[in-house]
Amino acid sequence: MSTFPDKFRLDGRTALVTGSARGLGWEMAKALAEAGARVLLHGRTRDRITPRLEELRRAGFAADALAFEMSDRSAMAAEVAASGPIDILIHNVGERDRRPFADIAADDFARLVDVDLSAAHALVKLVAPGMIERHWGRLILVTSIVADLAVPGAVSYVAAKGGLAALTRALAAELGATGITSNSLSPGFFATETNAQLIASPAGERQRERCPAKRWADPSEIAGAALFLASPAASYVNGHALIVDGGVSATYLA
Ligand SMILES: NC(=O)c1ccc[n+]([C@@H]2O[C@H](COP(=O)([O-])OP(=O)(O)OC[C@H]3O[C@@H](n4cnc5c(N)ncnc54)[C@H](OP(=O)(O)O)[C@@H]3O)[C@@H](O)[C@H]2O)c1
Repeated sequence: MSTFPDKFRLDGRTALVTGSARGLGWEMAKALAEAGARVLLHGRTRDRITPRLEELRRAGFAADALAFEMSDRSAMAAEVAASGPIDILIHNVGERDRRPFADIAADDFARLVDVDLSAAHALVKLVAPGMIERHWGRLILVTSIVADLAVPGAVSYVAAKGGLAALTRALAAELGATGITSNSLSPGFFATETNAQLIASPAGERQRERCPAKRWADPSEIAGAALFLASPAASYVNGHALIVDGGVSATYLA
């Protein structure tokens, strides 16, 4: 007899998690593999992703790897086509540009928006037709609390993540009747490798203090939210932005 927790299992599903060599992407990929999905890891190059692939396979999980740079749409299309049907897309790659507005040239802005927003659209174009055909799919786009709350010194990142949140809602509206759900996952302050310098700085200490939880999140704390959105348990959750931020965006002062 199946029980309610079985609705969090992903047996028989294949999940692509972009940017899963490290950070939040790796934590989400590992959790989905543990829940029974065949996981497609992704990195810029095979070299970067191979150690993680071996780790999952050694643990007895079904896993394969895709390698492409987000800005290279031909490589993206070829790798996705070669991977077989994809049921769950967690699009996690997101570059930052922590420079003042005055220092970000038009080309820099366009490049970041291409990687953080347009590449998501390109990936969805590749995976959605198969999901529609099979009447089941999960699109999970990793945004940020900056999609709703701006910060100084990140103009292109804030704009791209805001666009990504809007793209998620547009996809939810348009694809809702096809068996696909589209949701965004919005992290707050996570202690990933990329944030190591920031965390050690006075600005990082102010962020910790600003958070009601009074700490940076461990990267593994994103995994439960990702698994929920990917799972059959979230079958009627569509167009939602799931915030995982220790309460930052719920508060004016903490
Ligand atoms: N950490 C946080 O506190 C936080 C907060 C809000 C939102 N987020 C969002 O959550 C996501 C993951 O964050 P994270 O801190 O775990 O990120 P991360 O450490 O920067 O990792 C991102 C992954 O994406 C890959 N990647 C970056 N640019 C790429 C490109 N152009 N083409 C292909 N792969 C690329 C990286 O590959 P390499 O290993 O080759 O560099 C890396 O594996 C991002 O979208 C970020 O915006 C994070």
